[in-house]
Amino acid sequence: MSAFQVRRLRLAAGLVLLAYVVLHFLDHALGLISLAAMEAGRWWFLALWRSWPGTVALYGAIVVHGILALWLLYQRRSLRMPPWEALQYALGLLIPALLAVHVTATRIAWWLVDADDPYTRIVLGLWALSPQSGARQVIAITVVWLHACIGMHYWLRFRRWYPPARPWLFGVALLLPVLALLGFVSAGREVTALARTPGWTPALLASTHAPDRAAAARLLAIREGFLDAYLLALVVVVAARGVRRLQERRRSLQVTYTTGPIVAAPIGFTILEASRLGSVPHASVCGGRGRCSTCRVRIVRGLDALSPPSEAEQRVLARVGAAPDVRLACQTRPSRDVTVTPLVPPSIDPGGALAPDARQGRERELAVLFADLRGFTRMAEHKLPYDVVFVLNRYFATVGTAITGAGGVTNQFTGDGVMALFGIDDGPATGSRQALAAAQAMVEGMTRLNAELAGELKTPLRIGIGIHAGPGVVGWMGWGESFYLTAVGDTVHVAARLEQATKDFHAELVVSHEVARHAGVDLGAFPAHRLEVRNRTEPVAVRVVARVAELRPMLLSAP
Ligand code: FES
Repeated sequence: MSAFQVRRLRLAAGLVLLAYVVLHFLDHALGLISLAAMEAGRWWFLALWRSWPGTVALYGAIVVHGILALWLLYQRRSLRMPPWEALQYALGLLIPALLAVHVTATRIAWWLVDADDPYTRIVLGLWALSPQSGARQVIAITVVWLHACIGMHYWLRFRRWYPPARPWLFGVALLLPVLALLGFVSAGREVTALARTPGWTPALLASTHAPDRAAAARLLAIREGFLDAYLLALVVVVAARGVRRLQERRRSLQVTYTTGPIVAAPIGFTILEASRLGSVPHASVCGGRGRCSTCRVRIVRGLDALSPPSEAEQRVLARVGAAPDVRLACQTRPSRDVTVTPLVPPSIDPGGALAPDARQGRERELAVLFADLRGFTRMAEHKLPYDVVFVLNRYFATVGTAITGAGGVTNQFTGDGVMALFGIDDGPATGSRQALAAAQAMVEGMTRLNAELAGELKTPLRIGIGIHAGPGVVGWMGWGESFYLTAVGDTVHVAARLEQATKDFHAELVVSHEVARHAGVDLGAFPAHRLEVRNRTEPVAVRVVARVAELRPMLLSAP
């Protein structure tokens, strides 16, 4: 079974356990109504989870999830991992130890010594008779819930629907354990009041067959046996890792990165593990689980010696339209020296993972916007360097917010200029409309900024914007830390020329006919010109918009 299939199985088991925990929390929350409501909810809960299918599903999931977690811990060659993954591992490893008491006191006791475990008796124990056990139980469910939430978040974050749903899911993730805890507290108070009735507690313990001393000793032995076995399993995994490490040290290979470093890694490491071993920044949004594709690398040398990608790896690579020489670094274990080029910048966000791979260097139809501050160089000569930086940063924040707010990608803040791309994934029609909306938002933002900086500036800041749409080669380009999504080609060249032309026309915006056509906006009210552009035989037809505010009615009536 491949690591990918192991993770899939583990995820399926985790989802069964999550369903169990959610229903358990909901049952606890019924305590806010009454103890009786909790007991009624428990009847349904047990009907499901203590039935044969429920038992097989639950305990099967516990065994599969636990064993596969240990297996994956053994499998991974390097324990260097992102903090969120380390936290999830640590919480997961704590869970068996924290829950052993509760499970033996409820389910195992019911199985072995016929002890019933209604909420009334369990809450009495945790709330009134042994509050320290109650506190431990609260810690245990917090650990379980955090472990589950981290797992769900890092699983779901590649889904397109997830970012907008995230605040709601976060609310649910917060509310559910809080309600469960409040239900437990409310039930605890109710039980405490009942326990004041003379004879009530002994009667409850007798009627529920609470374990006597001998049964309690038997349950304790089972619990300690389980904890010993669990500890032993952990020790075995760590020891096996150590033995393998010693063997692998004798046989190593070189992973050469075309971006610079060379890492000597033991044979058996994945390329991603080699990157982590050598502290080479390497994108791995899903933490090496073979889901996100962000770790993908082009194999420049050594492709022939690699074993072919698994079906699962092929599926992920196909989703991003990867070329045949591209592999997932987290799934590829070279047995000889390889030379690789990471294809995604280490700073990629989850939204960029699994995006149709326009971002690997493809020709796209898009809209490109250039903007520049007018006369800023002259103004800067009379200002202190600190003031120049301050004003420029405010300006970049203003235009950057306008661009990203309209759906564009900011790119290349150079001097007092900025370049932005629109419609990379959605095409030139959307891109052109977004670019025009961004121009409007930029000018409005500059008006607000001028009002704010009125005391600092002798003359208001003015901006010139050029927008053109057409084909361009889009991809992540650069080196080291300066690695960003950009575009090259004639469209970029023309957009830059249009921005320059705003100076000649004393206008805020010069926009090509192509942009107006793609956006479906009638710019016939603005003067038309034909601009010569270097290296182009044909002049570019443009409209000159002196004041961007005048665009508003056209944009409002656009499709
Ligand atoms: S790190 Fe996500 S697929 Fe490799």
